[in-house]
Amino acid sequence: MSTQTILVADDDPAIRTVLSQALGRQGYAVKCASNVATLWNWIENRQGDLVITDVVMPDENIFDILPLIRQTRPELPVIVMSAQNTLLTAVTATEQGAYDYLPKPFDLNELTAMVKKVLSQAPVTNQASPRRPSGAEETDLPIVGRSAAMQDVYRVMARLMRTDLTVMITGESGTGKELIARALHDYGRRRDKPFVAVNMAAIPRELIESELFGHEKGAFTGAATKTAGRFEQAEGGTLFLDEIGDMPFEAQTRLLRVLQEGEFTTVGGRASRKTDVRIIAATNRDLRQLIEQGLFREDLFYRLNVVPMRLPPLRDRRDDIPDLARHFLSEAEKTGLPRKVIDKAAMDLLCQHTWPGNIRELENLVRRLAALYAEDVIDEEIIRAEIFERGPTGGSPAVESEGLGEAVEKHLAQYFDMHVGGLPPPGLYERVLREVELPLIELSLKATKGNQIKASELLGVNRNTLRKKIRELDIEVVRGVK
Ligand SMILES: Nc1ncnc2c1ncn2[C@@H]1O[C@H](COP(=O)(O)OP(=O)(O)OP(=O)(O)O)[C@@H](O)[C@H]1O
Ligand SMILES: [Mg+2]
Repeated sequence: MSTQTILVADDDPAIRTVLSQALGRQGYAVKCASNVATLWNWIENRQGDLVITDVVMPDENIFDILPLIRQTRPELPVIVMSAQNTLLTAVTATEQGAYDYLPKPFDLNELTAMVKKVLSQAPVTNQASPRRPSGAEETDLPIVGRSAAMQDVYRVMARLMRTDLTVMITGESGTGKELIARALHDYGRRRDKPFVAVNMAAIPRELIESELFGHEKGAFTGAATKTAGRFEQAEGGTLFLDEIGDMPFEAQTRLLRVLQEGEFTTVGGRASRKTDVRIIAATNRDLRQLIEQGLFREDLFYRLNVVPMRLPPLRDRRDDIPDLARHFLSEAEKTGLPRKVIDKAAMDLLCQHTWPGNIRELENLVRRLAALYAEDVIDEEIIRAEIFERGPTGGSPAVESEGLGEAVEKHLAQYFDMHVGGLPPPGLYERVLREVELPLIELSLKATKGNQIKASELLGVNRNTLRKKIRELDIEVVRGVK
């Protein structure tokens, strides 16, 4: 077999050197270009069996000529690598027929493995790819973040754009599961059809089946009229099954059957109906653990876990914090709140926080900053007051022999004293309530072994309210066991 030639284009000489050495060692011939014109010249002259190229080069952007490459040399695979790491880059690369997209910095072993794989395959002619909805700009994709941890997410997403595969999104609360699910729909081929979200944790257990599949008039007490279910509403589109780990077991059995057979029956109905929906499920719970505890059907898990996507917690992508914070500030500005900036020291502090409530916690914090502070520049002191004075979960060694009211009073008095000659930052009411609510709810959950139904009874609040509080206060939910 004759030597295969790889065309490398990058304006960075270091990358050209690394690639030509690594690929040369694998026995490939490598030609390096530092601009698009040279690369195009080779391609036009039918040179090369594979292209590895950067996106932005001094003379042109590779995306401007990718369609032309596809047209002229449809058999030529193109791997696009980029440090412009946004979802938009990944999507554009995929849509324009790039064979794959590789975020920089890349892993050399991964790249050589990819090259070997591509070059050992028979040439595939890429089909014309679906277009992105017209006018879609970065702003339509509110997925902020260029960290390495998000790159894997974008790559998986880009690959999923042209498929209908079932996706299981896992990740801690507030990591963006719902946002990603929506983006998968909005950029997928079902984007003109409905996206319907159902939150398993927000629906009373006994109503879940009717919620999903609809019911006939009189199917159960309270079923006054025939009602369409979510499957029917999502027909042709995407059904987002949020908090799937909270789905009652019987409903799981029914869901599994529907997914296997592609048909469903309404509650109280007889005739089955065909269904065509793409399923995206999400959970912040450990489904494997639930399976072990007999609370989640293993067969349903495999049915849903076709493409697993794990969203990184914010603390594993701290690089993204400044971008996210600025994004949320500008969002706040759009809602009419005054324009604010976060200074360097304050930003550093934000980057140090562990963010147990992830992006939602950051979003809420930034909103508070925008709404409650008069200052145009948010400094370190404000951030410290907002996050660090709340103290680590659990707080201080409080109540021993004194009453709760006394303890609170003492703490507040001390707090006011700290601000000699001035006032504490605004938003005190909310901060104080939070201090009280947090341990109250955490301890109630602990006492009920994480059973939210029991905890809500104990507290005398309804279950949805409790869930809402759990989210707002970024309380980590550990259920069962112990
Ligand atoms: N990468 C991101 N860029 C910008 N905003 C984001 C990003 N990820 C999440 N958000 C925002 O953070 C908030 C929480 O995201 P989302 O509701 O998708 O999280 P979740 O994982 O579904 O959380 P939960 O498990 O609590 O339901 C939303 O307001 C969302 O718009
Ligand atoms: Mg969610």
